[in-house]
Amino acid sequence: MNRLEGKVALISGGSRGMGASHARMFVAQGAKVVIGDVLTEEGQKLADELGDAAEFIKLDVTSYENWQAAVELAEQKFGGLNVLVNNAGIINFDPLTEYSVDDWSKIININLTGQFLGVKAAVDALVESAPSSIINISSTAGFQGIAALHGYTASKFGVRGLTKSIALELAGKNVRCNSVHPGTVSTPMNAGLDVADFNPMKRMGTVEEVSNLLIYLASDESTFTSGTEFLIDGGELAGTGPLEEK
Ligand SMILES: NC(=O)c1ccc[n+]([C@@H]2O[C@H](COP(=O)([O-])OP(=O)(O)OC[C@H]3O[C@@H](n4cnc5c(N)ncnc54)[C@H](O)[C@@H]3O)[C@@H](O)[C@H]2O)c1
Repeated sequence: MNRLEGKVALISGGSRGMGASHARMFVAQGAKVVIGDVLTEEGQKLADELGDAAEFIKLDVTSYENWQAAVELAEQKFGGLNVLVNNAGIINFDPLTEYSVDDWSKIININLTGQFLGVKAAVDALVESAPSSIINISSTAGFQGIAALHGYTASKFGVRGLTKSIALELAGKNVRCNSVHPGTVSTPMNAGLDVADFNPMKRMGTVEEVSNLLIYLASDESTFTSGTEFLIDGGELAGTGPLEEK
């Protein structure tokens, strides 16, 4: 299938985990992909594996200049940019007394400001190559608090709000912007954590399950969808119960 024929995507945090899966599955659907990440070895290896359809560039999402260079690469190498996947993210956590101001600043800078910088650097290119789609990766932590994940929860709520102001501003220019809210998905980010019980399906999601949703959002199948949230969480936010007999 070629659901992404003619699409050029820039994926932040694309060297491993969900971002790497998006890169692989976008290319399989006919897209060209720029992978941006601070992990240079893994990112270059993935780009080599994907051949002419992919390029790697070192991208620290907290650097506006890095973002500008990544957008330029997409334009020069692939002739434009019509999909931006703001996927790069980190996690940190601690009780309030131990959670430092540096912990807070770091995660807000990467998880939230990093997405703003990406959109700011890419907006002209996205408008020029429209119809375009911005996909901001949030979390179920963009809907509910998670104990001790103060900065993570705040950043992911922030992504959800930022998505809406961007969607409103760009709707008339044929650029959509939506947020995606995964539950627990098996990636290096949560390796070793016992989180399968977080949802009623009692399993973690796979990276491919999330990539399938992103293919829909990146493609022109979703051209009437903007400013909204896509939960992909194994039912985590559906509610509580059923009650079990004791
Ligand atoms: N894994 C989960 O259960 C889960 C659940 C909900 C949301 N998410 C979100 O999904 C996204 C992808 O997470 P993942 O699970 O694949 O994690 P991961 O740690 O496997 O991948 C994250 C990628 O982001 C990159 N990155 C980190 N800081 C960066 C920076 N400053 N600049 C550029 N790249 C940077 C890392 O190098 C890595 O390649 C994140 O935004 C995360 O918050 C993950």
